[in-house]
Amino acid sequence: MFRCRINVSTLIFLVVLQGATVVLLSSWYLQLSPCHSDPSGGRVHVLLLSSWRSGSSFIGQVFSQHPSVFYYMEPGWHLWKKLSQVNIRYLRHIIRDFFRNIFLCDLSAFEPYLEKPLMNHIFVWSRSRAMCSPPACPLTPRGNLSNSYECEQKCKNRSLEVAKTACDTYTHVVIKEVRIFDLESLYPLLQDPLLNLHIVHLVRDPRAVLRSREQSQGALSDDNSIILSRRYSSASTNMLYEVMQEICHSHVRINEKASLKAPSFLKNRYKMVRYEDLVRDPLGGINSIFKFVGLDMPEHVAQWIYMLTHGKGTGSKSEAFKITARDAEDVSQYWRTALSYDKVKRVQDVCKGAMSLIGYRTVNSETEQKNLNIDLLILYRDQNQMV
Ligand SMILES: *[C@@H]1O[C@H](CO)[C@@H](O)[C@H](O)[C@H]1NC(C)=O
Ligand SMILES: *[C@@H]1O[C@H](CO)[C@@H](O)[C@H](O)[C@H]1NC(C)=O
Repeated sequence: MFRCRINVSTLIFLVVLQGATVVLLSSWYLQLSPCHSDPSGGRVHVLLLSSWRSGSSFIGQVFSQHPSVFYYMEPGWHLWKKLSQVNIRYLRHIIRDFFRNIFLCDLSAFEPYLEKPLMNHIFVWSRSRAMCSPPACPLTPRGNLSNSYECEQKCKNRSLEVAKTACDTYTHVVIKEVRIFDLESLYPLLQDPLLNLHIVHLVRDPRAVLRSREQSQGALSDDNSIILSRRYSSASTNMLYEVMQEICHSHVRINEKASLKAPSFLKNRYKMVRYEDLVRDPLGGINSIFKFVGLDMPEHVAQWIYMLTHGKGTGSKSEAFKITARDAEDVSQYWRTALSYDKVKRVQDVCKGAMSLIGYRTVNSETEQKNLNIDLLILYRDQNQMV
């Protein structure tokens, strides 16, 4: 009779060897198999979520100038304009689905909202460098800074199809939007396997926002009625504080959802940024935002940021939708001398919760307000820190 001469330790060795082989082969197979590659194609989708008059145009422009970014500025504008009668609760779902399409470079999603299916009918399209660069338009080489005025003259009459082809060639698609007031409506996007969504939440001291909104009341009155779901005369001062209250509440809702009770799919996907911190260290702040979304900092963009944040001017003029070279730190403190203490007190009252959460110290007198040696910025500890 044949007797098996293999002893126990040899047997164990063979079993382990076989196991290791299976593991090695299957991981090799999985790597090759297309079913297991990243369905988002290694692309990153960024939502720069902010509110009106909070410096988001500036950060948006920085993204836009980056050679790897296809940028949309305020695409929600079209929906609010066209669907202004729709309740904001429904509107946010429509916006969410619209964003999904345009994150995936399906620019035909714009069609129902445009007069003609042309790239230059998209709201402030010329502020998107990618729409002024090849293959969308030969004007600006990708590694150059774009000039929106020149682009407006020279990149007209291009189809949405051409813009889509351009979008497909970028690793990063960035949307800057002020018309989002909650995080929950975006959850399906965060869980969508085709998207790799990162949210940058830009906030600013409500007192500075108030002062800036006072300057652009007329330009914002349609948006205000949607936010408050009713119509005011644009002269109403109550409206200003009610809108501020809504905005402040939305900051609290969003930040609490993302940091205190964050669902697992939000991990490493949310970053709150304070405008004032950015102003104190623009390059450092933007570097950390870029790092968060996996972008490098090209030299020409770094130089441009320096120039923009160290220019002339005081910000006393109303420049609702423009960025000009001016000293950003100066601008961020401007409200302290320009606003009356009554107004400051009133906005502090409606924004108390947001200010304490985000780290803005309230002032208790006009003297405190006007004494610029008192720093009103409290160190903010990012509880969902990832950079
Ligand atoms: C692009 O930038 C380079 C370097 O600044 C410059 O020499 C060149 O003229 C620019 N090209 C265009 C088309 O603007
Ligand atoms: C715009 O494009 C259309 C079709 O691509 C063309 O027929 C038309 O002549 C163009 N118009 C201008 C002003 O370039």
